[in-house]
Amino acid sequence: MSARRTGRGASHDEFPDESELTMRAVAWHGTRDVRVDTVPDPTIEQPTDAIVRITSTAICGSDLHLYEVLGAFIDEGDVLGHEPMGVVEAVGSEVTQIRPGDRVVIPFNVSCGHCWMCDNGLQSQCETTQVREYGTGASLLGYTKLYGQIPGGQAELLRVPQAHYGPIKVPDGPPDDRFLYLSDVLPTAWQAVAYADVPSGGSVLVLGLGPIGEMCTRIAQHQGAETVLAVDLVPERLQRARDHGVVALDLNDEGRDLAGHVRDLTGGRGPDAVIDAVGLEAHGAPIGKIAQRLTAMLPDVAAQKLMTTAGIDRLSALHSAIELVRRGGTISLSGVYGGAASPMPLLQLFDKQITVRQGQANVRRWIDDLLPLVSGDGDPLGVEEYATHRLPLDDAPRAYEIFQKKQEGCFKVVLKP
Ligand SMILES: NC(=O)c1ccc[n+]([C@@H]2O[C@H](COP(=O)([O-])OP(=O)(O)OC[C@H]3O[C@@H](n4cnc5c(N)ncnc54)[C@H](O)[C@@H]3O)[C@@H](O)[C@H]2O)c1
Ligand SMILES: [Zn+2]
Ligand SMILES: [Zn+2]
Repeated sequence: MSARRTGRGASHDEFPDESELTMRAVAWHGTRDVRVDTVPDPTIEQPTDAIVRITSTAICGSDLHLYEVLGAFIDEGDVLGHEPMGVVEAVGSEVTQIRPGDRVVIPFNVSCGHCWMCDNGLQSQCETTQVREYGTGASLLGYTKLYGQIPGGQAELLRVPQAHYGPIKVPDGPPDDRFLYLSDVLPTAWQAVAYADVPSGGSVLVLGLGPIGEMCTRIAQHQGAETVLAVDLVPERLQRARDHGVVALDLNDEGRDLAGHVRDLTGGRGPDAVIDAVGLEAHGAPIGKIAQRLTAMLPDVAAQKLMTTAGIDRLSALHSAIELVRRGGTISLSGVYGGAASPMPLLQLFDKQITVRQGQANVRRWIDDLLPLVSGDGDPLGVEEYATHRLPLDDAPRAYEIFQKKQEGCFKVVLKP
């Protein structure tokens, strides 16, 4: 077993002794290369830290961007993962709202709870944890140098910074899957639907039926949207959505007339809102795909330069959102984009009078709305049956591969350390 770094913030030397290597964690080693390594256990470094023993930890579509495209901003050995929950092992002296033995879910944003941004419900912009070196918003767990290079939660143990505020205490008893998605999927989808601002009795179309997009359709239905449409191209994902009443259109069948078909389904105008839950790796954008392959092959410095000055996004989903939404409607972007100069049809955006809202989810902002829905009777958003795969942490390399390639019906993987 080779010694390795655990990313900035680890308490150990850069290359620790073998004797210090005790916990298992999913580490990035290169494009499409993640491995389960043995790394040092994290320790309390700040009085606001906690250590959590992870019981469930999911793989997200955002992790796939690291797997394939964003490698220029990660170092070999960085620990991935930002959708964890578990049991508190230890807390720093300033952490009083949780204590050892508590069951907690960890938000993917690291936020302080007392700056101007946090006070205003913009926890993903937290001024205490913003990464000023890269001009980005709040730090995130396990998500590249752009977001603080904090060791992630696909691991047996996690150091949680800002733990006096972040961790969400949940009741003992119900299965982990009831609460796990409070870390990301639920608040992301809730915010996407809130930002979509669907009028009462109105219509919404969701692009992408991955875990985020499907949850958007469920939340929109729960909140009373009259018509919920969606587009994807993976047969099982389309079927899952149809099973709960979504009008799910297969991009492969629609060809060039998707816009016409959608208008026919929405009174001739187009939906009131379109949610883009696809992001920068959209299917059907050959030039962007070449740019992304190129960035993955370049040395880090050159790739960083390309990504921060040019357009590397595959924009087909965003461009179809602009085309599909009705005049005067809203586009809510939850898919992640990365290029600095991606071409946008400003004429069409302006002419159609489109409102665009977007951003990382402000996780803590939505927890009071969501907690009753996942902990009460019934399971209105269907979280208990949401995952298709529950696998041991050691199976992470295969899990990433089947999730990316959409093989074996893989839709959402929960890893069990
Ligand atoms: N804003 C946030 O805070 C936040 C949080 C979590 C995830 N995300 C982002 O949300 C996006 C979706 O995440 P996920 O976990 O559901 O990922 P995913 O990769 O499983 O889902 C993406 C889906 O889009 C479909 N798709 C691809 N091209 C398409 C196209 N042209 N038209 C329609 N559908 C298309 C794919 O088949 C897939 O089912 C990712 O970009 C992820 O980074 C954002
Ligand atoms: Zn995520
Ligand atoms: Zn803050």
